[in-house]
Amino acid sequence: MIVWVTGASSGLGKSVVHALIRHGHQIVAGARSFEDNREGNVCRFRLDVTDTDSVRHFARRALEIFPHADAVIHCAGILSLGSCEETDAEIYGKIMDTDFLGMVRLNREVLPHMREAGGGRIVMFSSINGLLGIPFQSAYTAAKHAVEGYAECLQMEVSPFHIQVCLVEPGDHRGGSQHTRGHVPPAPDSPYAQRYLRGTDRIAHDEANGLDPDRLGEKVAGLLERKHMPFRKRIASSDQHLAVWLHDLLPPSLNHRILQNYYGQNQA
Ligand SMILES: NC(=O)c1ccc[n+]([C@@H]2O[C@H](COP(=O)([O-])OP(=O)(O)OC[C@H]3O[C@@H](n4cnc5c(N)ncnc54)[C@H](OP(=O)(O)O)[C@@H]3O)[C@@H](O)[C@H]2O)c1
Repeated sequence: MIVWVTGASSGLGKSVVHALIRHGHQIVAGARSFEDNREGNVCRFRLDVTDTDSVRHFARRALEIFPHADAVIHCAGILSLGSCEETDAEIYGKIMDTDFLGMVRLNREVLPHMREAGGGRIVMFSSINGLLGIPFQSAYTAAKHAVEGYAECLQMEVSPFHIQVCLVEPGDHRGGSQHTRGHVPPAPDSPYAQRYLRGTDRIAHDEANGLDPDRLGEKVAGLLERKHMPFRKRIASSDQHLAVWLHDLLPPSLNHRILQNYYGQNQA
């Protein structure tokens, strides 16, 4: 298969590329830090998913090298930690631009080709945060919820053209560098300061003890080999599966108390 992968320079996207290489696919990989080059089955092109011209250029180069795209895997993403009160609207815009609109831009380029080819696969990286919110990750959570809603609409529109859509919903995985990308730390005298520290300590702890990114890469490569991809593929610890299940089952006030407690928000 010919597979395009965004966000392929680090973390989960890089693990996906390694798995796709092992599975014998041909890959067009994109990230801002890439120099254009070709190495074996992998073409790397510079790609900024927030820039429509860059996305068009990426798609054009990919189609020059390989005549079509069998699958696109959207992994590019950034994250910012901060309280709702203290995070500027511009930061929300930046996260939305990368994590959600980046997918929209590339899908608009690839969909006409997939339709003409009679089918294709679109895999979008959401998150457990696409299903539930946690304190101090509101921008990221909002963007991933947007991805979830968009994917439902997309799936219904493109399935008549034999294009499959799958949301990958990872829980915490080790090695992601996204948490270093953006912080809006509260000032020491901020009313959020102590809770922010306890919440972000818990987030860092869970990430450091997260699942193996290479196993996720294998699971994502395996999705492409299934005749029918599931619409949702959650790749998470049993605790995180339970958290999603409780979120859907419990009244919001009780569910929020449990999460607040877990993230150290119930202490002064
Ligand atoms: N790690 C986890 O535990 C976890 C959990 C749930 C969901 N996820 C999701 O999985 C995906 C990968 O996350 P990660 O943790 O592996 O993060 P990461 O290590 O920070 O990787 C993010 C990737 O996105 C690329 N990127 C960022 N901005 C970009 C832009 N404007 N245009 C093109 N590429 C861009 C980065 O490359 P450049 O900087 O070179 O552009 C990098 O390759 C994200 O969608 C994330 O939300 C991760």
